[in-house]
Formats: sequence, C-alpha cells, structure tokens
Amino acid sequence: MSEEGWLVSGQGQGYEGYDRLAIDRSGQAEAFDAIGDRYDEAFPHKEGQLAAGRWLADALPPGSRVLDLGCGTGLPTAAQLADAGHRVVGVDLSAGMLKLARDNVPTGEFHQADIASLGEERWGRFDGIAAFFALLMLPRAEIPHALRMLHGLLRPEGLLALSMVEADVDDYAIPFLGNTIRVSGYLRDELRQVVRDAGFEVAGEDSYAYAPASTDVPPEIQLFLHCRRRA
Ligand SMILES: C[S@@+](CC[C@H](N)C(=O)[O-])C[C@H]1O[C@@H](n2cnc3c(N)ncnc32)[C@H](O)[C@@H]1O
Repeated sequence: MSEEGWLVSGQGQGYEGYDRLAIDRSGQAEAFDAIGDRYDEAFPHKEGQLAAGRWLADALPPGSRVLDLGCGTGLPTAAQLADAGHRVVGVDLSAGMLKLARDNVPTGEFHQADIASLGEERWGRFDGIAAFFALLMLPRAEIPHALRMLHGLLRPEGLLALSMVEADVDDYAIPFLGNTIRVSGYLRDELRQVVRDAGFEVAGEDSYAYAPASTDVPPEIQLFLHCRRRA
C-alpha cells in the first residue's frame, strides 16, 4: 500500500482524536523488509518475551482469539500462542516480516496493516493481545490513542501482554541492523501510568537487561507488563 494509502485508511476511528493525528510511517516498514530474518539472529535469547507470552497463553481459555500486534517474524510469540491452541491473528506493516511469519506459523492468520487501522470494525474483538516491542515504533503522541484502541479491541477483562524498552525518547531515530528506525519509550513509572490511563489494570511486571547478539544494537532494559482490561 502506498504511503498516501496509510494516511487515508491507516487511522484509528473514533479513539479520542487518533484519526486527527498526522501519521508518518516513512521508512519503518522498509527497514523491517530489509532486516528480515536477521531480526531473529540479532535477538536470540528472548526469556522475557517467552515468559510474558506464556503468561498470556496460559491465562486465556484454550481456543482464544489473540492478536499479535507488530508480529514481526511470528517468532517466538505467534508460534507460542498457536502452539498453546489459540487462534492467532498477526498484524504487521512489513510485507517481508509477514512472509516470514506465515512460513513460521502456518496456522496463524496474518494481515498487512498499520496499528492505527485496528480501530476499524472489521477486526472484531479479541480475548487477548500481545504487543511486544510494537508500540515503541509509534511516536509518543500516538501511543495513548493506540492503547485506548487496544482496550476497545479487547473483550471486557481481556488480557494485554505489553513490552517496551525503558527509555525516555520520542520518535527518536536509531541505527538498527544497518537501517534507521524511529522509536519511542518511557521510563517505567510513566509507562505504567500511560497504560492505566488507557483503561488497563497492571496485574504484573517484569524487567530484563538484554544484550542483543548484534554489536550495532546497544544493551537495553526491557519492560513487560501483564495487563487486564478494566470493564
Ligand atoms: C521491534 S519489531 C517487534 C517484532 C515482534 N513483535 C517481536 O517482538 O519479535 C517491531 C515490528 O513492528 C512492525 N511495525 C512497525 N510499525 C508498525 C505499524 N505502524 N503498524 C504495524 N506494524 C508495525 C515492524 O514491521 C516490526 O515487525
């Protein structure tokens, strides 16, 4: 889809002004198209993500409909959720990442779509959402709207497993596996507040110091929140 297309259809409908934000995705999908399966090579040990995915998989009844937001290659999360017997819907902006996800998780349903488009009715409701290192791809002005939208996508009491890198940055350009991407983050107190303000209870939290295999990506603190939609 053209960039203009994202601007026309790629906006959350009715989420407190989400549709009025100017959305700039230039370069983001292209970077991940170029990165492809080097992403999994650069981030090999995903204990924190696996533990948070296990929490989500085990807390939901078998056969639950679960969204993997910004699913990337589908590894490890879409595969983990599908192996646990859930119906996985993966969404990503990058066609290259989606091809890998379809190969890695044949039972999953995968769509090329912008996070901001998920407010549209056609997506239906979900019992759970995994949002691992996906919202960090948005500018900060968008993240509260996106979280409200995820709240609206979940059934009451539905679960959200969220991860972010702990960093006080907004739409900040970083070199990433030979490409440039723009990322945002919060320090942990602020992240919890943003999540609570969007209508979630934070039921659990973990943090991990993570050193990627790749030398051009600096070590980071990863935050994992286990959230429940307040009614
Ligand atoms: C840092 S990766 C995380 C991938 C996966 N969730 C994981 O944890 O391994 C971010 C993913 O979000 C996708 N992405 C970036 N911006 C997006 C957007 N606006 N809408 C949907 N996906 C997006 C990228 O293509 C990439 O696959």
